[in-house]
Amino acid sequence: MLSLLVVALTILAAGSVLWFTFSLGISPMPSSAKARLHILALVGEINASPIADLGSGWGSLVIPLARRHPEFRVIGYEASWIPWLFSFTLKHLLRLDNLTLERRDFLQADLSPYRVLLCYLFTTGMERLDSKLAKDHLEAHIVSHTFALPSRLPSTTIRINDLYQTPIYHYRHGENLPSPRTTSPPFRSSDPDA
Ligand SMILES: C[S@@+](CC[C@H](N)C(=O)[O-])C[C@H]1O[C@@H](n2cnc3c(N)ncnc32)[C@H](O)[C@@H]1O
Repeated sequence: MLSLLVVALTILAAGSVLWFTFSLGISPMPSSAKARLHILALVGEINASPIADLGSGWGSLVIPLARRHPEFRVIGYEASWIPWLFSFTLKHLLRLDNLTLERRDFLQADLSPYRVLLCYLFTTGMERLDSKLAKDHLEAHIVSHTFALPSRLPSTTIRINDLYQTPIYHYRHGENLPSPRTTSPPFRSSDPDA
C-alpha cells in the first residue's frame, strides 16, 4: 500500500514538472556550477539589493546567493510547484531568513522594488520580460544567463569557459542601449578567460 502511494506521488510530481515545463516553455534546469560562480561574482560586484531570481527553479542560484550574502535580500519567483517546494524546504532547513520564495508567475508580480533581476529563461521568456520592463518602466541591473534581451544591448558580456562559451549578459542599471538586432552580434565585449 505504501509503495503504491510512493509510486502515485512520484508520477504526480513528474507529471507536475512536465506540465509546467510545457506550459512555461522551459524546464527547471539549474545553472551550471561555472555559470553560478560567474553570476555570484557579478552580483557581488553590483552590490545592490533586493535581488530577484525570475524563475528560481530548485533554488540552485538563490540558495548559494542568500548563503554567501546574508546582507542581501533575495527573492525567488517560481511557478512550478515541485521545484518551488524543494527550494522552500531547503530554505527552511538552512534557516535562510534573507531568502523569500514565492510560488507565482513573475510576469504578474511587481518587480519595481528590485535593484537586481536575475534570469535564465529562453527566447520567448526574454521577449515577455522585455515587454514587462518597458511597460512597468523597471530600473534595475539585469543579469541574464544564455539569453539576451531583444531590445537592448548588454553593457558587458562574460563568456563562460565551457563547451558552448555560454554568455552571461549584464544590463547595467541606467544604461539603456537599444539593440539593432539584425546587424549586431548579441554581445559587445567578452572575457575569454572567464
Ligand atoms: C532554467 S530554470 C533556471 C533556474 C535558476 N534560476 C537557475 O539559474 O539555476 C528556469 C525556471 O524559470 C521558471 N519560470 C519560467 N517562466 C516563469 C514565470 N513566468 N514565472 C515563474 N517562473 C517561471 C521555470 O519553471 C524554471 O524553473
